[in-house]
Amino acid sequence: MEDGQAQKRKSRQRRKQCIVLIFVAVVLVVLAIVLWLVLRTSEHEEFKRVFTSRCDAYGGGYDCAKTWSAFEQAYVGKDPCFVPPESYQALIEAAPIKPDCNRMMFWSKTKDVVHDFTSKKECFITMEDTFVGSVLDGLTWCSKVGSKETFTSGCPGWSDCVNNTVRSFWSKASASFAQVACGKVSVMLNGSIATPFSPASIFASIEVKNFNPDNMKSLEVVLVTQDKEVSNCANPSLQDLQKELAQGISYSCSEVPESQIEECASDPEKPCGSCW
Ligand SMILES: *[C@@H]1O[C@H](CO)[C@@H](O)[C@H](O)[C@H]1NC(C)=O
Ligand SMILES: *[C@@H]1O[C@H](CO)[C@@H](O)[C@H](O)[C@H]1NC(C)=O
Repeated sequence: MEDGQAQKRKSRQRRKQCIVLIFVAVVLVVLAIVLWLVLRTSEHEEFKRVFTSRCDAYGGGYDCAKTWSAFEQAYVGKDPCFVPPESYQALIEAAPIKPDCNRMMFWSKTKDVVHDFTSKKECFITMEDTFVGSVLDGLTWCSKVGSKETFTSGCPGWSDCVNNTVRSFWSKASASFAQVACGKVSVMLNGSIATPFSPASIFASIEVKNFNPDNMKSLEVVLVTQDKEVSNCANPSLQDLQKELAQGISYSCSEVPESQIEECASDPEKPCGSCW
């Protein structure tokens, strides 16, 4: 009799322990889910954080909340291949590109050398040094139909579709940058390729077409050459460039070795404008 009772007690105890263990496990799982829901930052929030911190860092009194909402309405909830450049009109109105006469520098196929130069010498500003340009430089973003999310991967690439989220931004912003170009304007082109003024480039297809001869005095081409010079200032594509310029905008071209630009950029004694 006593043995039977002891066994019953033991099994009742074991059942109790089991229930407690299951209960603890359930509580832990629920807690983990709640924590994950609370702590997880969506890609959208993460992208917004990057946008806002770059906006804050730029200074200049821009309203970062207003700029963000003008920006996100351009693409959130839309097919990433059907976001035409006009979608960014509200953003450009909220944060207009400011003219900076005699210091505006365009580039095509010379991104590294031009930005190395502008980062060391404050003689010129490129599109990427403007407010909207610096906030979005190097970033990828898109959404999809009916979504409130921002995705930073899996977005259509530069040439997958013409009106993609990122490309349309650069088209719109570059057009605005060119529209306000004023005084003496410069462009760094690549002398190591056969067509330094390529019709497919943003510079040829958008920027030159938006130059305003009322604001602009001249365009100086800095043709960056490397050891093997492929193109010089007599290149046929550069003659096309001259033809495209409106009357009233004068044109000049200099062939400048990349090493000379690098040396000059690193030489604090050299004044602006004497690098070529
Ligand atoms: C891209 O957008 C432009 C301007 O809105 C439009 O005219 C053009 O048809 C669009 N292209 C494509 C391939 O959707
Ligand atoms: C010019 O283009 C070539 C080929 O794409 C590239 O290797 C080179 O770095 C470019 N030169 C400059 C100065 O950016």
